Amino acid sequence: MPISDCKILDLPKITDPRGNLTFIEQNRHVPFEIKRIYYTYDVPGGSDRGAHAHKNLHQLIVAMSGSFDVVLDDGLETKRFHLNRSYFGLYVCPMMWRIIDNYSSGSVCLVLASELYDEADYIRDYEEFLSAVRASKEGGSPK
Ligand code: TYD
Repeated sequence: MPISDCKILDLPKITDPRGNLTFIEQNRHVPFEIKRIYYTYDVPGGSDRGAHAHKNLHQLIVAMSGSFDVVLDDGLETKRFHLNRSYFGLYVCPMMWRIIDNYSSGSVCLVLASELYDEADYIRDYEEFLSAVRASKEGGSPK
């Protein structure tokens, strides 16, 4: 899938003087069924996370608190997205190398995922990722 499929989605926001509210419904606000939710927190300044791709997983990444950057790479092109609002979500399609960095202190990164955790779905080696991208462009299967 091309990197142009990965977009910041505008989530519904109910503004209220008592505090704002955002909700996310599967197949409506995100283009997949949500099977798993995870979040990272207490991330020390200067850290980066990610540095892997997923073969089949679709994800929506939300900065629930604070901010961070998500750098996406489809093997040809790289794009940096800055997330800093809890009513924006970055949709990340399969076969996208991602690094998350530039965390503000106290930030919380929420991820909605289309599948349960499966280590076999990860590609953690960048060279392996590039050969899988090349193989899919040639119509073959990755080595
Ligand atoms: P990983 O996905 O590599 O984290 P990140 O991309 O944020 O740097 O996961 C870190 C560890 O947590 C790894 O050992 C796998 C484990 N893990 C689970 O057990 N379940 C999950 O849903 C996730 C996302 C990770």
